[in-house]
Amino acid sequence: MQETSVCRICDGEVTEFIDFGKQPLADRFVAPGSSAPEMFYRLAVGSCSTCTMVQLLEEVPRESMFHEEYPYHSSGSSRMREHFAATAQRFIDTELTGPDPFIVELGSNDGIMLGTVAKAGIRHLGVEPSGGVADLAAAHGVRVRKDFFEESTAADVRATDGPADVIFAANTLSHIPYMDSVLRGVTTLLAPNGVFVFEDPYFADIVRKTSFDQIYDEHFYFFTARSIQEMAARNGLELVDVERLPVHGGEVRYTLARAGARQPTPAVADLLAEEKSVQLTERHTLEGFQRSVLKTRDDLVKLLRELRDSGKVVAGYGATAKSATVLNYCGIDSDLISYVSDSTPAKQGRVTPGTHIPVVSPEAFADDYPDYAVLFAWNHAEEILAKEEAFQKAGGRWIRYVPEVHLA
Ligand code: SAH
Ligand code: TMP
Ligand code: ZN
Repeated sequence: MQETSVCRICDGEVTEFIDFGKQPLADRFVAPGSSAPEMFYRLAVGSCSTCTMVQLLEEVPRESMFHEEYPYHSSGSSRMREHFAATAQRFIDTELTGPDPFIVELGSNDGIMLGTVAKAGIRHLGVEPSGGVADLAAAHGVRVRKDFFEESTAADVRATDGPADVIFAANTLSHIPYMDSVLRGVTTLLAPNGVFVFEDPYFADIVRKTSFDQIYDEHFYFFTARSIQEMAARNGLELVDVERLPVHGGEVRYTLARAGARQPTPAVADLLAEEKSVQLTERHTLEGFQRSVLKTRDDLVKLLRELRDSGKVVAGYGATAKSATVLNYCGIDSDLISYVSDSTPAKQGRVTPGTHIPVVSPEAFADDYPDYAVLFAWNHAEEILAKEEAFQKAGGRWIRYVPEVHLA
C-alpha cells in the first residue's frame, strides 16, 4: 500500500515509493545478553510532488540516534581523513581569508574536518550532539558545543561569536528532519556574503547503483540539485554551486548563499539539466529503483543460502549503519553470516541491530579467514581491499552487492 505524508520542506504531498518494513535503529549495536527491547520504526521512503524532495515517511526521535554512545567515528577511514583535510584547506584558502574569519560545522563528529582548521589557528565551532565523539574532537583541540544545531543554537552562536563566513555540514544535513528550523538558523548565523556548504549522498547515485543501504533511520533526506534549489529558494537562499564527490558511493557538495549574493556557477544548471533528462524523481524511475532493490535482495539471499548449504564460512566486513538495512530487509542473520569484522572498538563485542550477528575486530577476522566476506563498507572498498590483500591471497573471496550482487 502506498502511503502519503506531508513534506518536511514545503508541506506538499509525499508519496511512498519503497517500504523496507520495520527496522531497528541502524547504529544501535546490542550488548550480548542485553534484555532491553530494541526500538523499531517503519522505514519507507517517498518523494514530494511539489518540491521533489525524497524523504522518509517516519521520523525517529533524534535523541534515540544521536547520544553519548553514538558509535560512528568519522576518522576510522584514512581516505575520509584526507578528504576532510583537503576540504578544510580549501575553505582556509578561499572563504576564510578575511581579518578574523569564523567557520561553524554541524555534525563535526570526532573533529575530522575542524582539526585542520584548529591547527591553522582559525576561529571555529563544531556543533555536535553526540557527546562521545564531541569529546574526541575536543581532545584534538577542536572547539565544540555539545548540542543539536537548530534555530535557537544558531541565535546563541551568533550572539556569542558573531556571523559565520562558512557554515559546513558533511553527511549531517540529510540527517535532520527539522529543516525549517535549521535553515532559519543558517540565515541568522550566516555573514552577508557567507556560504552554507554541505555534502551528502546523491540520490542519483543511489538510484544508479541500487545502493538502497543508504536508506536508514539517520538518513532522513536524499538530496537532488532540484530539491535543494527549491528548498533554498523557500528560505531566502540560493543554490550557487554543486560539485560531485566520489566519497561514500557518490555525493554532491552543495553551496548556498544569500539570494542574489553570488553568481551561480554553470555546474548548477548542468546538474539540474542532467536530473531532468534522466527523469530522476519521476514515478517510473522510482518504480525501477524498487524493482532493482528486490532483485539485489533475492540474488544476495540466494547466494548466501547456496554458500551455507555447501558448508562455506561467510563473514561480513564493516558493521556499517547501511548494513542494518541490508541484513534486516533481506532477513540475513547469523545462520547466513557468522560474524562481521569492524575496526570500531565500540561496535566490537556487540551484535548487529535486529539480526544479532557478532561484531569482531579485524584482528579476529585475520586470525581465521572466512571463505567469503560480504563487503558492507563498499564505499571504502579501495582502502579495505588494499588493507586486506592477505585475505584474497589466502583464497578468500569478496561478495559485493553494489551495484548488483557479484563476487570480486
Ligand atoms: N561530518 C561527519 C559525521 C557524519 S555523522 C562525517 O562526514 O563523517 C552525522 C553527525 O551529525 C553525527 O555525529 C551526529 O551526532 C550529528 N548530528 C545529528 N543531528 C545533528 C544536528 N541537529 N546538529 C548538529 N549535528 C547533528
Ligand atoms: P561508513 O560506511 O558509514 O563510513 O562506515 C564504515 C564502517 O566500516 C565503520 O564502522 C568502520 C568500518 N571500517 C572498517 O572496519 N575497516 C576499514 O578499513 C574502514 C575504512 C571502515
Ligand atoms: Zn516538498
